Amino acid sequence: MGEIILGDNLYVLRTLPDGAFQLIYVDPPFNTGKAQSRTRIKVTPDPDGDRTGFQGRRYRTDVVGTSEYADIFDDYIGFLRPRMEEAYRVLDDHGSLFFHVDYREVHYCKVMLDEIFGRESFINEIIWAYDYGGRPKTRWPAKHDNILWYAKDPNNYTYNYDAIDRIPYMAPGLVGPEKAARGKTPTDVWWHTIVTGKEKTGYSTQKPLAITNRIVRVHSNPGDRLLDFFAGSGTLGEAAHREEREFTLIDNNPEAVRVMCHRLAHYGIVVRGVDVTDRADEPETEPRLL
Ligand SMILES: C[S@@+](CC[C@H](N)C(=O)[O-])C[C@H]1O[C@@H](n2cnc3c(N)ncnc32)[C@H](O)[C@@H]1O
Repeated sequence: MGEIILGDNLYVLRTLPDGAFQLIYVDPPFNTGKAQSRTRIKVTPDPDGDRTGFQGRRYRTDVVGTSEYADIFDDYIGFLRPRMEEAYRVLDDHGSLFFHVDYREVHYCKVMLDEIFGRESFINEIIWAYDYGGRPKTRWPAKHDNILWYAKDPNNYTYNYDAIDRIPYMAPGLVGPEKAARGKTPTDVWWHTIVTGKEKTGYSTQKPLAITNRIVRVHSNPGDRLLDFFAGSGTLGEAAHREEREFTLIDNNPEAVRVMCHRLAHYGIVVRGVDVTDRADEPETEPRLL
């Protein structure tokens, strides 16, 4: 069973009990300095259309919607810190946090998380490497994201080694045929393409299910409760459901909640909102879940 909550995650997090989640994955806005937006289009056969497709057939393009949120922060760490302090509080004593960001802010985020969790709780920095999009000619194209893993108790956390999916050897000829057929476990560099095909929800910044799936399988157990409080299109919810975990997804963008409801409706979800009406100037006021 899962729940989706519309609201500012700081207010919502304050309503959640201590130690309630065995795994937290978050993918906050990256502070790119731009509005993150994606336009969804529908293409219909039309001899007078504006596109040419396979075998010269003509198609008409119609815009069916746009999803957008601002990704500009004057004080990015000031925005994140109270939210990550709440994340620490609501994380189970043996739980893990996966924090997804990119090269622009990862070093500041690591210092902040070391302060909140303790340096000894930092276990890995996973590099998600992809290969898509433009290639500037003035520097090495940046084609990776950074995922920081913190365990609340660095001596006692979930790491289901046997649940790790296997990948092909780069030089299978150097290992025996048996090993080559079995494949190897990945390192802390995870190669995976960006979201493609049927997986696309149309939400800008949607992350691949395979990445969150691997995190969910290896770092939690069936029946655990998982949290993503920058949930976007609900990728963590999808992975959690597939692996028989419970989930709580929070986002303050109504469009994100619409996309999540559409994506996860058949999984049995409860949708709630947080009452923060007229409370923008009173951050200490007790929030109320509706
Ligand atoms: C990078 S996207 C997450 C994408 C997601 N991992 C996915 O696969 O679709 C970040 C999300 O954080 C949300 N967000 C930003 N500030 C927030 C806040 N204060 N409270 C709740 N959500 C917030 C944005 O609306 C956006 O959907």
